[in-house]
Amino acid sequence: MTNDKKAKIYADCLLKLKGLLEGEQDDIVKMASISSVLHQAFEQFYWTGFYRMIDGVLVIGPYQGTPACIRIAVGKGVCGVAAETGETQIVDDVHSFPGHIACDAASASEIVIPVRNRIDGEMIAVLDIDSTSQKSFDDMDADHLESIIAQFF
Ligand code: SME
Repeated sequence: MTNDKKAKIYADCLLKLKGLLEGEQDDIVKMASISSVLHQAFEQFYWTGFYRMIDGVLVIGPYQGTPACIRIAVGKGVCGVAAETGETQIVDDVHSFPGHIACDAASASEIVIPVRNRIDGEMIAVLDIDSTSQKSFDDMDADHLESIIAQFF
């Protein structure tokens, strides 16, 4: 996919989400809508969803895709590392990521974006997107996804 095409798809997602979520305050509603819109927009997105931080553990939240692990400890897997470091994680090949949690063998590459509450900066969740192709995600995806998250949380 060209960068122009990718930028256009992310711009369309943002527009759609702005329309859907105008004035919305509920985090679950936002997570459900963001998962759905992103998942529908990109063919290669195999699993798109959120793990919420509840009592110091990542717990499955709204998502689109096959059933996945219910709880992930902070520091474990790609999601746990994103939650621990507060940094977006891009993994070109999940099979070479030490400690990757394989919820589904179809997953080949992954991006995980920390989600912070804009009021106090508290980490409330991570957005996890898995792709069936290796190297699906780059800094451009990270920038767009981080800005979508910053817009709504
Ligand atoms: N791959 C993730 C686990 C979650 S599933 O992919 C939905 C990880 O290692 O954090």
